[in-house]
Amino acid sequence: MTDLKSLYSDLAQGGPPLFFPDPPAEVTFNFDQGIAAQETFPLEDFKEIAVDVINRDEGRALEYISFGYDAGDDQIIYLSTYIELVLGYTGMREEIAAWLRADQGIDWLRADNLICTSGSVQAIALAVNALVNPGEGVLVEAASFPYAMRFMEMRGADLRTVELDEDGLVIASLEQRLQEMAADGVRPKMLYTIPTFQLPTGAVLPLERRRRLLEIAEEWDLVVLEDAIYANLCYEGETPPSLLSMDSTGLVIQSSGLSKVLAPGLRSGWIAGRTEMIEALAAVRQDLGVSQWLSRLTAEYLHRGLLEPHIEKANAVYRHKRDVAVEAVREHCSEFVDVTVPRGGFYLWLALKDNFDWDKAAEAAALAGVFCRPGESFMGAEHGRGYLRLAFSHAPEHELRRGIAALGEAMRSAAGDQVAR
Ligand SMILES: Cc1ncc(COP(=O)(O)O)c(C=O)c1O
Repeated sequence: MTDLKSLYSDLAQGGPPLFFPDPPAEVTFNFDQGIAAQETFPLEDFKEIAVDVINRDEGRALEYISFGYDAGDDQIIYLSTYIELVLGYTGMREEIAAWLRADQGIDWLRADNLICTSGSVQAIALAVNALVNPGEGVLVEAASFPYAMRFMEMRGADLRTVELDEDGLVIASLEQRLQEMAADGVRPKMLYTIPTFQLPTGAVLPLERRRRLLEIAEEWDLVVLEDAIYANLCYEGETPPSLLSMDSTGLVIQSSGLSKVLAPGLRSGWIAGRTEMIEALAAVRQDLGVSQWLSRLTAEYLHRGLLEPHIEKANAVYRHKRDVAVEAVREHCSEFVDVTVPRGGFYLWLALKDNFDWDKAAEAAALAGVFCRPGESFMGAEHGRGYLRLAFSHAPEHELRRGIAALGEAMRSAAGDQVAR
């Protein structure tokens, strides 16, 4: 029989193995993925809105696109909404545009400045396909979102990393990388950055660096793909304005979505930018758009003004979980890790000290049912070894406490320090 795997394209052969975690014991403390907490999901609102939308829109709620209807002539109105096959439901784009205008102060943003996607990962994939040619340069932060990096690799981009510090992307390093690319004859085309509550470090890029970044983008004609997925998960203080809101060149496009602030199962993502950029993304999209049903539900949720108060309530939940996680790390792991308290986002980024054997600790932690994401996932094997990402957003408080205590115990046993605490 043919080895079916021999039929794989080069792209599939070069892909990472499918990730089915196979830990040595049942996972009881899942700190692996940054998932919105189920207890925050607005179930009652969605129940009510689902019924209202079906009553209001009837079959139109389940079409590919939103056909109009002229009741006078009893005539379906065709063609005018075909654009939804590439951009998504117009009502949803109008609602998101209104939210972004209010939230980020972007006056010019309208429905035409948005393309709705199945989660923001699809938005990132479209942006890379639409704007980067094979061999062109893409810059990413030294620790970044693995899915985004994989799209860039699949596109054949020349991928290089920019250093990070506690304030996010280091401008001097960005300039240096751009010059290196130019010296190598590579056209630097795109910077992918998560300036607010960076993944995985939680850093927030200060205003002055944002200004410089935009000046550099203009000098180099560099597309800036700003990933704003965590920007609204702010637990104290203010965040600087988004790059999209500060940009006057059109070079910035912003990916975001509702997975973190509302619910990931809606798969609601988008890219916002100047219409020329949105049209480029539309030109490489062939999947017939996003779900009309989920878009109508979500648009109505936004229309009723429910998102902002929801985010405020959800952030109170995450602020508390973050505090519980930080307190537990300080109590149980402080001998072995350095932790910076993030002002927002879903993660603690732990720098591992070298006073214990992390491989042994990781094994012991996994046996105790603790599941976290090693730094290698975000930075590659060479640089990532000294880090661990702990997602606090999803686990209930008692699991955070017990799981982090078990993690500390695993680290202590790996350090050979059995002193009872
Ligand atoms: C940095 C970053 N961007 C984008 C996403 C994608 O989220 P979604 O596709 O659900 O919008 C994630 C999810 O973890 C993320 O961490």
